[in-house]
Amino acid sequence: MNEFFTWLERSSLGDAVRTTPLVYSSLESVHILGIALLVGPALAFDLRLLGVGRQMLPVTAAARHLLPLARLGFAIAVTSGLVMFVSGAVAVGNSGAAPWKLSLLMVAGVNIAVFHWGAYRRVDGWDIEVPTPARAKTAATVSILVWSGVIASGRLLAYT
Ligand code: HEM
Repeated sequence: MNEFFTWLERSSLGDAVRTTPLVYSSLESVHILGIALLVGPALAFDLRLLGVGRQMLPVTAAARHLLPLARLGFAIAVTSGLVMFVSGAVAVGNSGAAPWKLSLLMVAGVNIAVFHWGAYRRVDGWDIEVPTPARAKTAATVSILVWSGVIASGRLLAYT
């Protein structure tokens, strides 16, 4: 694996990102903007699933507004994260936090799939004013915990 990380880091993209002034720090800023656009709307949607705003905001309206923003934020975070990874693949790839971050991202994906193909298919029955089903609340709680874990492990990449 280390050979692959070294090859990535010494690629022309890796060299360019590492040696051009301000590129890495700009990518970090873009990464954080992507995270804000992903985690902010995702947690706002999770809170709605947990009952916040139940009397005035249909779940489907919250989903239509918030989830495309979260998807855009995810695309920005993944793209900037991958470019940063290429430029420092040996250190980041060997960080103790890397497997945690990757695993938690996968758990987030599975949680989203289970929610959309499960509880959300019957959203017409609990769109507004009605308490959301336990399965939707579980998905929201898992989502809040998992995105918090991704942020913590992302931050720890630089320290472990
Ligand atoms: C495939 C997706 C991703 C990759 C490859 C990736 C990769 C990276 C890399 C290489 C760093 C820089 C580490 C350093 O400078 O030492 C980083 C930082 C970070 N990442 Fe990601 N990331 C991804 C997605 C995400 C997502 C979705 C989140 C949050 C929801 C996230 C949260 C963070 C945080 C909080 C930091 C620390 C930022 C800072 O302190 O400046 N990452 N990530």
